Amino acid sequence: MPHPDLEAPADLLVETAYAKVNVALHVRRRRDDGYHALESLFVFADHGDRLEGEADDEGAIDLVIDGPFATALDAGPRNLVMRAAKALQDYLGTERGARLRLTKMLPVASGIGGGSADAAATLRLLVRLWDVRVEPAELAALALDLGSDVPACVASVTQIVSGRGEELARHGVAGLEGRPMLMVNPGVAVSTAAVFAGWDRQDRGPLSADSIERLVTQGRNDLEEPAIALAPAIADVLAMLNGQAGLTLARMSGSGATCFALFDDDVAMGRAAAAIGADRPEWWTMETRIRSA
Ligand code: C5P
Repeated sequence: MPHPDLEAPADLLVETAYAKVNVALHVRRRRDDGYHALESLFVFADHGDRLEGEADDEGAIDLVIDGPFATALDAGPRNLVMRAAKALQDYLGTERGARLRLTKMLPVASGIGGGSADAAATLRLLVRLWDVRVEPAELAALALDLGSDVPACVASVTQIVSGRGEELARHGVAGLEGRPMLMVNPGVAVSTAAVFAGWDRQDRGPLSADSIERLVTQGRNDLEEPAIALAPAIADVLAMLNGQAGLTLARMSGSGATCFALFDDDVAMGRAAAAIGADRPEWWTMETRIRSA
């Protein structure tokens, strides 16, 4: 089958907004500005939303949304794709515009950075489309302004993320690439702000380990408890995942409700996906693997 990028007309650019997964998410403290100081191991799935764009010579920014989760979103100025495009346009002071199409494959408000990944993909796409160079530090600042997870989504590779989300480090995180990962969402949207507000303010310690494997297995998601309090179905997803054979671990991502499980191999993942799909056909599942750089 030809690669989808090759089917696009020459003047149409395509980016994938890769799903983000917090393999570990340690909440350390509430900051004076209301955000929380985090330490998190971010990985990205090999799948995500699709964004395509072509230049608009009138300078307008236009967005249409299609795909399985399109109805959950508004394509107006508050959409993160629109906000990212406007922010870059303003920063550059450019006359150029873009006609964008977002194919929404990922559930909305679900802890896997859908909106953040869309914003980051917009920045990447427009830098290419408008053929401009933006210093990485400037792009990172624009990204952070759009959301705490957006800086990490710009590169969409495995990283240790700290601070509010702006401190990124890639040292010592190799070894997870290609690992089969099953993502499951029970169909409940949860508000990130509400989940953070429910955190019990107990610092359970830093994200630290001497190997990537231990970082994965000894990590936790401190938002699981407050998220489950708001959306009890998350506990059902975790129980279902933990009952499957051949998994390394199952955990919630971000502020939920999406949970993920890392599997030893594709066969184990496929069996688990089939079993969960048969038992809970209303749940969203995605078989993927951890993306490499
Ligand atoms: O930065 P973003 O707009 O994506 O964050 C959404 C909400 O998540 C914030 O309003 C805040 O309540 C919470 N948050 C937080 N600490 C962070 C990131 C997000 O409290 N580091």
